[in-house]
Amino acid sequence: MSRVSSDGLGGPNLAVDLCDRSTFRAGPPHDVFRRFREEQPVAFLPEPDGPGFWGVFRYDDVVEVSRHPQRFSSAPSVFIQDPPDATVTQELLINQDPPRHTKLRKLVNRGFTPRQISALEPHVREIVVGLVDRAAAMGQFDLVHDLAVELPLQVIAELVGVPHEDRHRVSAWTERMMSNDDDDQSAMQADARAAITEMFAYADRLIATRVDGEGTDLLSVLLRADVDGEALTQFEIDVFFMLLMNAGSETTRNLITGGTLALFQHPDQRALLAAQPEHLPTAIEEMLRWVTPVMHFRRTAREDCEIGGQAIAAGDKVVMWYTSANRDEAQFPNADTFDITRAPNEHVAFGAGGPHFCLGASLARLEARILFEEMLARMPALGPAGDPVHLKSNFINGIKSLPVRV
Ligand code: HEM
Repeated sequence: MSRVSSDGLGGPNLAVDLCDRSTFRAGPPHDVFRRFREEQPVAFLPEPDGPGFWGVFRYDDVVEVSRHPQRFSSAPSVFIQDPPDATVTQELLINQDPPRHTKLRKLVNRGFTPRQISALEPHVREIVVGLVDRAAAMGQFDLVHDLAVELPLQVIAELVGVPHEDRHRVSAWTERMMSNDDDDQSAMQADARAAITEMFAYADRLIATRVDGEGTDLLSVLLRADVDGEALTQFEIDVFFMLLMNAGSETTRNLITGGTLALFQHPDQRALLAAQPEHLPTAIEEMLRWVTPVMHFRRTAREDCEIGGQAIAAGDKVVMWYTSANRDEAQFPNADTFDITRAPNEHVAFGAGGPHFCLGASLARLEARILFEEMLARMPALGPAGDPVHLKSNFINGIKSLPVRV
């Protein structure tokens, strides 16, 4: 079949490489995404060492793909490039389809319901107050390193069952897997694989300490799990552990830093939030839309079909660009305006609906709300003390460092 967009546009102007991480050097290329939405909303794009993929850029089309897992599979992978070694990838919850996905997700779902998560509020506030007060005492600090990394890491480590003193070892592994911030692609992949091996060996040691099988942490829950009468294998538990630690710590940190940066860059919105903190819940939704910490996920077409009038063949890769959907004017009036009172705000930062919708959405919202409440109250004059350093990634919209002054 022809892999030319049905609108016949394209041409050299839109021949931008969305797999080239340097395209994201200064953050997401929103102008490029706008042009795709307007000129080639479903566009066939190249990928290194692979067949290429359909980029989907409009809100409605992203929702359509996300909500039809029968047509768009999460297997073999939700990442653009197929992994060189599929053994780990195929076990990941996020790469599974129903019915196995439904069964695996049920194992951990109960720990993440809005009710369970709101019960964590006093403890999360205790962690936040400790971190904010420690940072405030420094006068000047790095928002990423000293606050944004620590909060989600401490919380997910406790939930999963990683001892407090080990959390930085685990986050060093998740960073090596997720950050993909090195120019040497093959060195980066080799390092990510080494990090996975080290993390699995660590998870195996943790599992060995849970001899009584009575614990309430997620690792213990997984050890007791029963799927169709069978326990999970140690390898399956290792993979689950890796997903929870990665997803729990590498995402929310970027909501916190990206959200703070947005407030620095929009002093009117910041002043409004300081004067009327009751806007915080809508402000956090707007930060999620504005930042979109996870920029895309992929599906694979199971059958010949259409997206937005574009023919797609069975087996084609289809990539939902949440970053673009979240700036789609057809869905968000004045989409390029950061408006902390925006309502409704049906952003797709946690996914666009369907069975894989972010498991940790309530947790991420809780962590962000408490952190901003305490920062606004305890550091009212917080301001930048240097330029942010962006992560060079086409997957995570991240900031590596943001010096701030109290
Ligand atoms: C601001 C923070 C976060 C963002 C932006 C985010 C974003 C996402 C997105 C876009 C998806 C895929 C949704 C889909 O395919 O429909 C996802 C899935 C997932 N998220 Fe999050 N996430 C965040 C925080 C968290 C946290 C704190 C956890 C804690 C455990 C978590 C755990 C997961 C898991 C396990 C999945 C896979 C669910 C499945 O396959 O069924 N996330 N997240």
